[in-house]
Amino acid sequence: WVLMATGRSPTNIAVIKYWGKRDEALILPVNDSISVTLDPDHLSATTTVAVSPSFPSDRMWLNGKEISLSGGRFQSCLREIRKRAQNVEDEKKGIRIKKEDWGKLHVHIASYNNFPTAAGLASSAAGLACFVFTLGKLMNVKEDCGELSSIARQGSGSACRSIYGGFVKWCMGKNNDGSDSIAVQLADETHWNDLVIIIAVVSSKQKETSSTSGMRDSVETSPLLQYRAQTVVPERVLKMEEAIKSRNFESFARLTCADSNQFHAVCLDTSPPIFYMNDTSHRIISLVEKWNQSEGTPQVAYTFDAGPNAVLIAPNRKNATLLLQKLLYYFPPQDNDLRSYMVGDKSIL
Ligand code: DP6
Repeated sequence: WVLMATGRSPTNIAVIKYWGKRDEALILPVNDSISVTLDPDHLSATTTVAVSPSFPSDRMWLNGKEISLSGGRFQSCLREIRKRAQNVEDEKKGIRIKKEDWGKLHVHIASYNNFPTAAGLASSAAGLACFVFTLGKLMNVKEDCGELSSIARQGSGSACRSIYGGFVKWCMGKNNDGSDSIAVQLADETHWNDLVIIIAVVSSKQKETSSTSGMRDSVETSPLLQYRAQTVVPERVLKMEEAIKSRNFESFARLTCADSNQFHAVCLDTSPPIFYMNDTSHRIISLVEKWNQSEGTPQVAYTFDAGPNAVLIAPNRKNATLLLQKLLYYFPPQDNDLRSYMVGDKSIL
């Protein structure tokens, strides 16, 4: 027999960035972060997990290619979920698995992303959140979303925020064992329905410096990172929570852009410096800044993760349409590397 479960998790985009760990093994961050979870139809991971007594070992395929599970991020999540597995009964198939038997059974996992992997679009976030959630379902794990988020965190920090929809805060926590470093939902997916998120895929190439090694270098060498984590982010997080609660786009946009720029400043302050954005990214920032300045109030917010792709957030469909027109005018398809625009008709569903 084979027992299977399939799940889908959207990726999330940080508007207050996580950059830097205080504990590498447990993945504990140096500051809180806040994100928006996207609509699963646009950028998501789909994972199928299967268990069978005839599987001789644990195996995993990512986008159709087998990857090694041993010692990797998926392995630690698998171990944590297995520890919490409960009795499972499938009457139709006549399957009964006792919780103590899960340790003897092996799993096969197949995961697909519907967007470029490792191009700074937080693909690991969606993949690991999906993996933890779906495996939890298969093994009848009873833990709540907070606990699942802390397991996903141990696979990839940003993954803990993809356990929820809407707006999510990853509380850095204080405990050395990481027990209070969990994600909480600030507002659900219906709270700010007018927002539209457009992702300008500047490049779908794999990034040169992974987030994991980039942030390690920043922690070791950037004085700006310490200042950011201790002085800037705590205040910014409070303001961002308020802006989200009151749907104040002006404040939301200013904080989002400022935080993206400071994260990339920390990357530049790292030795050797890390360049995630390219010329096209910089031109997109100028375009948005000029537009916002000419109107006297933010029309669109931008944010960039560990890659050159722009995530642009408009307060409504009108501004999203204007933005697309501007992008197409300034970046005509024939003379640049801007490949496509992924448009979510509702940012957060
Ligand atoms: C720039 O979560 O990919 O996207 O914890 O080492 O797996 P690891 O890093 P990861 O870093 C994401 C960094 C970021 C900002 C963010 O998502 O908050």
